[in-house]
Amino acid sequence: MLLHLSDLHFGMEHNLIADALTQLCKELPLEAIAISGDLTQRARRAQFQAFHDFFDSLGIPWIVVPGNHDIPLYHLPRRILNPFGRYTKIFGETEKILETKHFYLVGVNSISPKHHTQGRLSHTQITETGQRLLKGKAGKKRIILSHQPFRVLRNYQQKDIPILACEATQHWAHCGLDALLHGHFHVPVVLPLQEHFELHKEVLDIQAGTAVSHRLRYDVPNSVNIIHPDLQVDRYDFNLESNKFERLGQLWPNLDPSCQHQHENIDPNVYKKTANNIVFHKTSP
Ligand SMILES: [Fe+2]
Repeated sequence: MLLHLSDLHFGMEHNLIADALTQLCKELPLEAIAISGDLTQRARRAQFQAFHDFFDSLGIPWIVVPGNHDIPLYHLPRRILNPFGRYTKIFGETEKILETKHFYLVGVNSISPKHHTQGRLSHTQITETGQRLLKGKAGKKRIILSHQPFRVLRNYQQKDIPILACEATQHWAHCGLDALLHGHFHVPVVLPLQEHFELHKEVLDIQAGTAVSHRLRYDVPNSVNIIHPDLQVDRYDFNLESNKFERLGQLWPNLDPSCQHQHENIDPNVYKKTANNIVFHKTSP
């Protein structure tokens, strides 16, 4: 099984929740950990290093891609001239591949300094990623990891769907793509793309919530996804009483509607009350 995390925002991580994540990693037979961006709060060297050291200490293979928080925000020359300099110094290239017993994971960097929160994909990137997908062994789930979701539930979120997301998914479906892993909106949800993008096969858009940071949104607690070899997706929420991540239910196939975040009837300005010294902030992606 695969642990899918997103939006850890190191620099704003909560130690208690990070410890709970370490504990969960010891309890589950994980093949790998996939982290779909926003590793840091402000792309600082120390934040990248702390993130790297935390995941290296777990002893489980892991793969990351950058999020919009992982390029400099205020230092304009660095943001334009060398946006991924600090990232690549710690993690190496931004688009890696990780193969496990049941999964073939391909990282795609959707972050662009010009389209900061929206992101974009290039035609070259779409072609090259397709070629990488075709190299996945039969029988393994072919999964792409990138930061911003390709399908959203609310109109105001459409502006953050990366440029060329539809074209990319249509091409990648022909290359055997089974699922995309995303974060960015800090909510756990799985959305099917077959009908939405008129694909010849099903492709799932699997989105993870906020793993360990204070940056919670929509009143959703810290959560992580567990993805099984048959693409069943389970949601684990951080429990404020036990201080552990506990299985809430099944996100996909969606047998439990209360588990799937619906985005409806939720005030986006809501602040969660302080509990156990955990202060939940109103945030932007
Ligand atoms: Fe983000």
